[in-house]
Amino acid sequence: MKILITGSNGQLGKEIIKNQPFGVDLLKTTKAELDLKEPNKCYEYVMSKKPDWVINCAAYTNVEKAESDKDLSYLINSLSVKSLAEATKRIDSNLIQFSTDYVFNGKKKQPYLPDDLKSPLNIYGQTKSFGEDYVKDIFNNSSKGIVIRTSWLMSSIGNNFATKILKLLAKNDRVNIINDQIGAPTSTKILAKACWQAIKLISGGKTLPPILQITNSGEASWYDIAVEIYKTSKEIGLLDNTVEINPIKTSEYKSKVIRPYYSVLDCKESFEELLMKSYDWEKAIKDLISDYQKGI
Ligand SMILES: NC(=O)c1ccc[n+]([C@@H]2O[C@H](COP(=O)([O-])OP(=O)(O)OC[C@H]3O[C@@H](n4cnc5c(N)ncnc54)[C@H](OP(=O)(O)O)[C@@H]3O)[C@@H](O)[C@H]2O)c1
Repeated sequence: MKILITGSNGQLGKEIIKNQPFGVDLLKTTKAELDLKEPNKCYEYVMSKKPDWVINCAAYTNVEKAESDKDLSYLINSLSVKSLAEATKRIDSNLIQFSTDYVFNGKKKQPYLPDDLKSPLNIYGQTKSFGEDYVKDIFNNSSKGIVIRTSWLMSSIGNNFATKILKLLAKNDRVNIINDQIGAPTSTKILAKACWQAIKLISGGKTLPPILQITNSGEASWYDIAVEIYKTSKEIGLLDNTVEINPIKTSEYKSKVIRPYYSVLDCKESFEELLMKSYDWEKAIKDLISDYQKGI
């Protein structure tokens, strides 16, 4: 089975590569080989390589910068996704597209279902939402084009909330962290596993819903996660200084971006369909910090 992966150097791309099953011929691409700011070239690239699957891990992920870089964000997160989907459909192959909790506005007080009404608050969320819609339309809601939504993605490598907090905690005796945005942290490990499981099941003839939602279980604020990171780092001797972590409100944090206050995804059906179980975000954070300490 030949699989084309984009965004090979990103935190999710790396985890998916690390977890590749035996017998897969993985064609790993970075921006250098396949630049998603050129939708036509994306189409041509897929047509020339003819993979059985495309796993699109590439995205414009800088939520702050996207506000002033609307066009590029739209090219990468929407139009190139359309091209990848069109080419994949043309050669009768399959696509996995990753998306985000930021397609929702956060006004709901309970976890979002896959088919809940979307209403993104920022450019990143809007452009990712268009990308989702292209995949659903082009594949006519079939299992050939699957959107996997996730939230608050973290890994021991790369640029994410956990690695940023670990660096901040090591250098400061006081940090302020937002405590009125609630979401579900997700380890790249569980997401990579879900991706490969979807490919295995669909390749074996199973039909899956066109939108899957995968996160670790439970809910947390950014403040809760920072406290958990701090506690675990102290316990395992990764950190020896004392840091005061102060909860603050979103309104006290300078940002150009409007973010949802509540963006937990309901993942029950998706885990059942994938024959997988989720596990608590606290365990995911502990594993992540242990990997960070080991440098893996
Ligand atoms: N991070 C989160 O909290 C989060 C939450 C929900 C959903 N997601 C989704 O999950 C997926 C994976 O995200 P991630 O966290 O792994 O992101 P990431 O670590 O920022 O990786 C994104 C990758 O996309 C590549 N990329 C950026 N612009 C590109 C372009 N023009 N052409 C080709 N590649 C390009 C980057 O390459 P360079 O490194 O060379 O720029 C990088 O390898 C994305 O679809 C994202 O929207 C992420």
